[in-house]
Amino acid sequence: MVVGAQWGDEGKGKVVDYLSASFDLIARYQGGHNAGHTVLWNGKKFVLQLVPSGILRPGKTALIGPGVVFDPAAFLSEVDALAQAGIDVSGRLFVSNRAQLIFPFHRQLDRASENARAGAKIGTTSRGIGPSYEDKMARRGMRVGELLDAQSFRRKLDDLIREKNALSEALYAQPLDVSGLADSYVAMADRIRPFVADTAAMLWRAADEGRALLFEGAQGTMLDIDHGTYPYVTSSNATSGGAATGLGFPPTRITAVVGVTKAYTTRVGNGPFPSEMPELEAGEVRNRGVEFGAVTGRPRRCGWLDLFMLRYATRLNGISSLVVTKLDVFDTQREIQVAVGYRYRGSPLGEMPAEAEILAQVEPEYRTLPGWCTPTSSIARYDELPQAARDYLRFVADDLGVEIGMISTGPERDATIIAPSTQLASWLR
Ligand code: IMP
Repeated sequence: MVVGAQWGDEGKGKVVDYLSASFDLIARYQGGHNAGHTVLWNGKKFVLQLVPSGILRPGKTALIGPGVVFDPAAFLSEVDALAQAGIDVSGRLFVSNRAQLIFPFHRQLDRASENARAGAKIGTTSRGIGPSYEDKMARRGMRVGELLDAQSFRRKLDDLIREKNALSEALYAQPLDVSGLADSYVAMADRIRPFVADTAAMLWRAADEGRALLFEGAQGTMLDIDHGTYPYVTSSNATSGGAATGLGFPPTRITAVVGVTKAYTTRVGNGPFPSEMPELEAGEVRNRGVEFGAVTGRPRRCGWLDLFMLRYATRLNGISSLVVTKLDVFDTQREIQVAVGYRYRGSPLGEMPAEAEILAQVEPEYRTLPGWCTPTSSIARYDELPQAARDYLRFVADDLGVEIGMISTGPERDATIIAPSTQLASWLR
């Protein structure tokens, strides 16, 4: 499985697209169309939000698991965009009958809830992700399978709307906009029907047949609802444990975890970010790395690589192999800082603090490493990397005690280095 080791946007889309060549089934386990997985292929750019990035490889099967929140309109527009690009998804793209539905009023509530927060806005993607997960946990939400019986769907939706309307009026003094809602969902049901399946059972069967399965996480470790920088997080388990519950796949059958990190750190939305750069330096990294949200277009906050955070991510997810992306963004950097520890009120911290307020006050301790000041973009062999770049990667791998199996030196598929003699290299076929 592939997880984001930071705050999302690590480049998982490209990594999953690359690895998919060696796997048969690719499955998404949490989140929704808040994710933006950018894949560049044959000069064409795809931003996948719900559909697993593996779909771009002919003959591969892509699954959207029960742990995902599913917006049918977003899904159909993605399917249409893929069809327009000549990618046929029929018979190889499936969504779980147990995935939760997102309704337009979830988006309205997402915005209303953000507006109602005085100071501590989360900076959500406004896709209705949190409100849909809220309904799931409150056991009043509706699932993809329920969309398929129009009569009972309308009845259940009426009940849901009645309850949500009362809540919305009381909390935000605004009625929900539900005009035409039931009709539009019933109309989409016919197009959704052929995609609906029991995806967990599909995965068990595939595993029994010895097929290779790849699980694709969305967002990242520090956005995990339980282990991230709460409350500045997304509403699902983006860490590796989320794959077992989000897919209904036994943890005992998951054999390896690939963590993806950029050569630096970014974050969209609000919340603490200890290794954040001053705006002057951040601006340069943002421009070189094109650090603008794939979904919302928001400029991303940029910072140095944070090994304290990556150590936490490594232990939390059980990362067995690390992928470092966007190494080339540092090609013009004379010196590179790396956060190696945190101090809080003068004392070093041993573990990641649980409170966002404390994390906002920690002072990172930095090590300065020399830059390489030569272009690395599109290099595809490890021994062609400049020595200082290899030293940087070695420093990271040694600190974390994890191999670096893959390095990405640009958005294209072939701008990828597979480090020789690594576990990750041994999975590729
Ligand atoms: P939500 O997932 O829309 O509720 O947003 C909650 C937080 O997660 C916000 O800080 C978002 O910016 C962040 N977030 C959600 N999805 C992504 C993503 O795919 N990449 C990076 N940040 C994300």
